[in-house]
Amino acid sequence: MTTTTHPTTALPASTGDTIPAWKGGSAYSATLTAAFALLTLSGLYLEFLAASHWAAGKLVLVLHLLGGALFTLALAPWLLSHVRSGPARSQRRLFTLLGWALLGKYLVVIATGLLMALPPALYLLGHIWFWRFETSDLLSFLHLWFSIAAALGVVTHLTLRHWKRAASPTGGHRPHSQP
Ligand code: HEM
Ligand code: HEM
Repeated sequence: MTTTTHPTTALPASTGDTIPAWKGGSAYSATLTAAFALLTLSGLYLEFLAASHWAAGKLVLVLHLLGGALFTLALAPWLLSHVRSGPARSQRRLFTLLGWALLGKYLVVIATGLLMALPPALYLLGHIWFWRFETSDLLSFLHLWFSIAAALGVVTHLTLRHWKRAASPTGGHRPHSQP
């Protein structure tokens, strides 16, 4: 028996009542999760080790900035689609609440990352401008702690998923009445 998957949200296409329960994410969502893990690890390196290993630190910073920008571009369409279909599939109030909290954490990490990247981006365009020290410290603080919270949040989100069991009377699939 074959099932086809939606390219972005990994929802199985509705092929009748006999299809098995949904068992996993898509290659795209797995790649996003792996990219997020790499950004967290490279960020932790920047925070705790780069000062004493600055030659490698410079490279990690450039990779983190480019990786962060690419990740944001790749995540946006998937997340938009996931947030449209996710709540419709979610059957547990706590899971739903944690999902929204996770979304908030991702948004804070991305927004603070982009704001921190503004001075180097402006420098490349020929303008010299910096955030005030206090603002820089606050952005960095929020970026670090929300990254850690988001990493724990995504592990929780994936651990609490229905990996094998039928998730609902519709077999874990989006009800036919949903758009
Ligand atoms: C940044 C925010 C989020 C990320 C990174 C994220 C990530 C993921 C990933 C990777 C999966 C597994 C692959 C898939 O099924 O597509 C998944 C499943 C799921 N997500 Fe999210 N998600 C987020 C937010 C949300 C929100 C806001 C909701 C709804 C409140 C939600 C509801 C679901 C549901 C219902 C599933 C399937 C659960 C199951 O099979 O039991 N997600 N999420
Ligand atoms: C979305 C996943 C991301 C994660 C998990 C993440 C994680 C981290 C962590 C833990 C740090 C070290 C703590 C700190 O200095 O605040 C860091 C630093 C940094 N990140 Fe991210 N980051 C992400 C995305 C981004 C994005 C999208 C950008 C911008 C393009 C970005 C730009 C930066 C910058 C500029 C630093 C400061 C480096 C320094 O001055 O030492 N990050 N990141």
